[in-house]
Amino acid sequence: MKIKLSILLAAILAGNLLAQSIQLPPPQKTGGMPLMEALAKRSTSRAFATNELSSQQISSLLWAAFGINRPDGKRTAPSARNFQETDIYVLLKSGAYVYSAVSNKLDLAVAEDIRVLGGTQAFVKDAPVTLVFVADLAKTGGNNEGSRNTANIDVGYISQNVYLFCASEGLATGARGSVDRPALGQKLKLRPDQLIVIAQSVGYPK
Ligand SMILES: Cc1cc2nc3c(=O)[nH]c(=O)nc-3n(C[C@H](O)[C@H](O)[C@H](O)COP(=O)(O)O)c2cc1C
Repeated sequence: MKIKLSILLAAILAGNLLAQSIQLPPPQKTGGMPLMEALAKRSTSRAFATNELSSQQISSLLWAAFGINRPDGKRTAPSARNFQETDIYVLLKSGAYVYSAVSNKLDLAVAEDIRVLGGTQAFVKDAPVTLVFVADLAKTGGNNEGSRNTANIDVGYISQNVYLFCASEGLATGARGSVDRPALGQKLKLRPDQLIVIAQSVGYPK
């Protein structure tokens, strides 16, 4: 019996099937809204419909956020000294995954719906996708003030890419510093030198 790949992916993303690794479809790198119109529409949302995003939308979202856009492995967002220290954890109904930009995959980190830990505000649980930007300070010279400053700045660019992608696609999004970092960090099994910078939910407007 043949099952269409898109149906299988939808079942995994909806939490009806567990996968150690989700191979995403290639991101859509063309089209979208003119930049000036996307800037005119960019805003923070604090209300999300519970509808799932498709694997295509998630792939394009993550590529826009911090995907590889050149043959030398550089990304859609800059990073100080090209450290590329930001890992994007993707909280979905089916579990928490880490985005691999190189292989365009989601690798399972926690086989549980922990979206509620993506922020302290009530609307957070409704969003189908919450991105958690985690800086691996082992790549930037250790957990010191300079490294943390670099990590915070680098995440700013990624977050704005997400804002502009969402504006272009008619999706709702909001960056969030209000996160219980110890609780989320423990659940994601982060090391002490992995810093949760901010979270950012994405979904359809409510
Ligand atoms: C670093 C950062 C942290 C933020 N933290 C939160 C937050 O915890 N909760 C929230 O509702 N909004 C948060 N926001 C969104 C801001 O409140 C929002 O960007 C600001 O009010 C301006 O609104 P706008 O994005 O629609 O222009 C955060 C934004 C940034 C850049």
